[in-house]
Amino acid sequence: MKITVSEKGLPERRSALLCVSLFEEDVNKRSAPAKLPAGIRKWIELVLSRKDFKGAPGESNLSYPEAKDQPQRILLTGLGKKKDFSWEQFRRAIGLITNSLSKINVNTFDCMLPGEGEWKHFDLPTAVREASLTYTLSCYQFLEYRSQKIKKEEHRKIKQMNVVYFSNPGKSKLRRELEKGRILGESVNFSRNLVNHPSSYMTPARLADLASKTGNKKLLKAKILNRKEMEKLKMGGLLGVSKGSDQPPKFIVLEYFPNNKKEKPLVFVGKGVTFDTGGISLKPPQGMDQMKYDMAGGAAVIGALAAISRLGIKRNVVGLIPATENMPGGHAYKPGDILKMMNGKTVEVLNTDAEGRLILADALAYAQKYEPAAIIDLATLTGACLVALGHEAIGLMSNSKSLTRSVSESAVNTHERVWELPLWEEYGELIKSSIADIQNIGGRNAGTITAAAFLKEFVSDTPWVHLDIAGTAWADKPKPYQPKGATGVGVRLLTDLVSNWKNL
Ligand code: BES
Ligand code: ZN
Ligand code: ZN
Repeated sequence: MKITVSEKGLPERRSALLCVSLFEEDVNKRSAPAKLPAGIRKWIELVLSRKDFKGAPGESNLSYPEAKDQPQRILLTGLGKKKDFSWEQFRRAIGLITNSLSKINVNTFDCMLPGEGEWKHFDLPTAVREASLTYTLSCYQFLEYRSQKIKKEEHRKIKQMNVVYFSNPGKSKLRRELEKGRILGESVNFSRNLVNHPSSYMTPARLADLASKTGNKKLLKAKILNRKEMEKLKMGGLLGVSKGSDQPPKFIVLEYFPNNKKEKPLVFVGKGVTFDTGGISLKPPQGMDQMKYDMAGGAAVIGALAAISRLGIKRNVVGLIPATENMPGGHAYKPGDILKMMNGKTVEVLNTDAEGRLILADALAYAQKYEPAAIIDLATLTGACLVALGHEAIGLMSNSKSLTRSVSESAVNTHERVWELPLWEEYGELIKSSIADIQNIGGRNAGTITAAAFLKEFVSDTPWVHLDIAGTAWADKPKPYQPKGATGVGVRLLTDLVSNWKNL
């Protein structure tokens, strides 16, 4: 896959395919973009006069102009009404174009930028960056486990995109934006890969190994703690959960310090359960195959640090990923066991399937040694989050209004949307234990919140946001720039947060 930007305007050559996006208003007026040469405009206006194409979002139309001064094919895509247009609609339009291409026999295509000259919020550098990001995301395929023949056929569907623009040039800046979009897209795709691999391949050790090889090698430092080191640190949660598995646990530390060490870092923590059987409190068989995505929080943190370091964003950031399997082996931790966590708190285990919060507790305690400016954790933590919010929103719970605001802004920017649930004192009552300090489940009600209330015990006063991505990390159905499977959610959100970071 390759993406280029053309010199101002349409290239001289006869294009194999030109993609043109149109608003409903312009379709109704049968008017083609004024910037296009008269011949092409005339052809588009002819197509529009047939009234097959209404310009609704998600709609497309392919036609074959004949004249020599016109592209061999024109693909029209609908943008809907101008008043409803947004950067998310922009990304969906690029996604739709990409998906339509798989059936079209071309290697290269020219693509006009949706909304240019028509939408009042249009901004050329942003548009080029978002187009390049979205094209990279839309081309994602996970083919590692297909045989060679199918792999080749599928790869052939990927084309080279040439971005065409008409407004003020400044080509070098645009190249940079193109590159930024591509790097971000590749980082999301990297995160998707980590999640899509089966757990027999993506073990804690493999995850740690891949994490230490990613990102800007000069600036992103990896440190992998093994079981011995965890014992020294008294990480009772991570050690407890890992006992039932033959795969050794790993605690992955990624440090990115482009600035003076004195600048307090943002610390990102990601749940890295490479497979969650539930342990002794075994899960039912249906859907258990999906539990390979229980490390999606970790994958998001790794992807985000890859992006942030490659983009060279000037902000100190640390990523922490406790990685383990949750297995019901002969040495497994059991209901009724009591674990002592890194910060000294004791936890009564009432359900070994509530393992995520146990390993995150140690990571959150470990985070304190950085005196972080803020902590954000991402975890596929509760099935209850799926019940409450479905696949559309990340569940957000926090102890800080201002950090919630910053994260929410990034959520809007990236369309990785968050929805806040309350984390009032009262919920803390539900996890009090009769024998230890706290217990690892809170009963039937408010499962997403009691999980967060548990984590809150380990963050002290640091501004902290917890993101439950159980519903958003995996897609059962494809969307315009998101194939089925791992979504890579969180990578764009965290990267946007760091880019726009202002002290709380
Ligand atoms: N990894 C699961 C949560 C999950 C469920 C993620 C479905 C994605 C899809 C987590 O470890 C878990 O099993 N949580 C339990 C908690 C319960 C025992 C309090 C759950 O949600 O059922
Ligand atoms: Zn579980
Ligand atoms: Zn889990």
